[in-house]
Amino acid sequence: MRSKSPPCLSEERRDKDGAPAFQLAARNVAYTVSKLTDYSAGALERASAELFSALGEEASAVKNEADWKVFRDRWMARKNGVLTQVNELWLKAAPREAKREVGQVVNRVKEQVEQKIKGAKDWLDAPSLEIMHPGYTVSAEELEKYRFEKIGSVDITLPGIRRPIGAEHPVVKTTNEMVRVFQKLGYSVAEGPVVETDYYNFESLNFPPNHPARDTQDTLFIAGQQAKPQRERLLLRTHTSPVQIRTMEKMRPPLRIVIPGTVHRNDPPDASHSPMFHQIEGLAVDSNITFGDLKGTLDHAMKEFFGSSVKTSFRPSFFPFTEPSAEMYVSCFICGGSGRRGSDPCRPCKQTGWIEILGCGMVDPNVFEFVKDNGYDPRKVSGFAFGMGADRIALLKYGVDDIQLFFQGDVRFLRQWA
Ligand code: DAH
Repeated sequence: MRSKSPPCLSEERRDKDGAPAFQLAARNVAYTVSKLTDYSAGALERASAELFSALGEEASAVKNEADWKVFRDRWMARKNGVLTQVNELWLKAAPREAKREVGQVVNRVKEQVEQKIKGAKDWLDAPSLEIMHPGYTVSAEELEKYRFEKIGSVDITLPGIRRPIGAEHPVVKTTNEMVRVFQKLGYSVAEGPVVETDYYNFESLNFPPNHPARDTQDTLFIAGQQAKPQRERLLLRTHTSPVQIRTMEKMRPPLRIVIPGTVHRNDPPDASHSPMFHQIEGLAVDSNITFGDLKGTLDHAMKEFFGSSVKTSFRPSFFPFTEPSAEMYVSCFICGGSGRRGSDPCRPCKQTGWIEILGCGMVDPNVFEFVKDNGYDPRKVSGFAFGMGADRIALLKYGVDDIQLFFQGDVRFLRQWA
């Protein structure tokens, strides 16, 4: 048999005067049984919970035979042991109509106390791991774990805690589905930084300094950048388009990429605006890309994503980095393009039968000029680009009427996608 005083633990758990360890347990003042002022189920529950917690703590502090005797006597001694006090202060003092219920609680307490005292003794008497495995030294952690499971305040027979596994956020789900559509067409995923320079967010995308097109982007600038040249100043990217240039700097044509990511704008939050939102960008560059390729690719992608019955429509627009530029609409997948739902007007498409989904266009030759040295000579290559808001698409797809719900983290809302 191993020595009754397990190594590592017993000495350090005793205080300087050699007092039994349980007096040092987390509870500084030793537990005492208090009188019950009311005998309701709740009061009984609270009183016994307090007792069980003290019992568990004191049992875990037992490190050797001497500790155990003190522990046993404190709880079991006929004269003034905790159980005797429980009998006096809880059961005997109880009014007749509460006796039955208090009696049951006291019985449970008795059982638990006996079990803990026996458990502590079993542990002390357990054959040593060191004896069962000669030459093996039990570590303090192993001993602690063994002690904890055997007599500690953990009841290993209770069922475990169920941790919910969670679910994909609707914006992430939408993004992944859209990205997948383009991956199937041979696009690869590219990403870039959220804190961006003025050069990548604006200048290289053909927004010259002070050009009014910058005003449409409600930019959030990083403070304290004035000392730097304008193109080096930092900001929160207002769109995922800077990743077009960043990727073209690294990879030579032909190129087909899809770019998911977060972007920021100085928009006050409301039902359709959030200062942080998500975009999905695309770029295809090769030696002979035409507007027909743009239309065919996006029409196919929308049919894959929304269903084969949607139609697409392209309307002229302006972006500094594409020429010509367009906005693409899809026929309303909620009302089927009729603008009405039964006798009601269709709200998502504002009764037009069309929903604006993205901006797109042919890459402006001025953009290629910035990456000309990496094989993007504007006389030799052409390409198309597009960008869409993932949150907006998720709102429409799932019939959510407030973008704020996506970012408040209320699990009652998010659980609907589990
Ligand atoms: N970056 C634009 C925005 O955030 C969206 C966009 C439009 C991206 C046209 C493109 C594009 O790549 O070709 O408003």
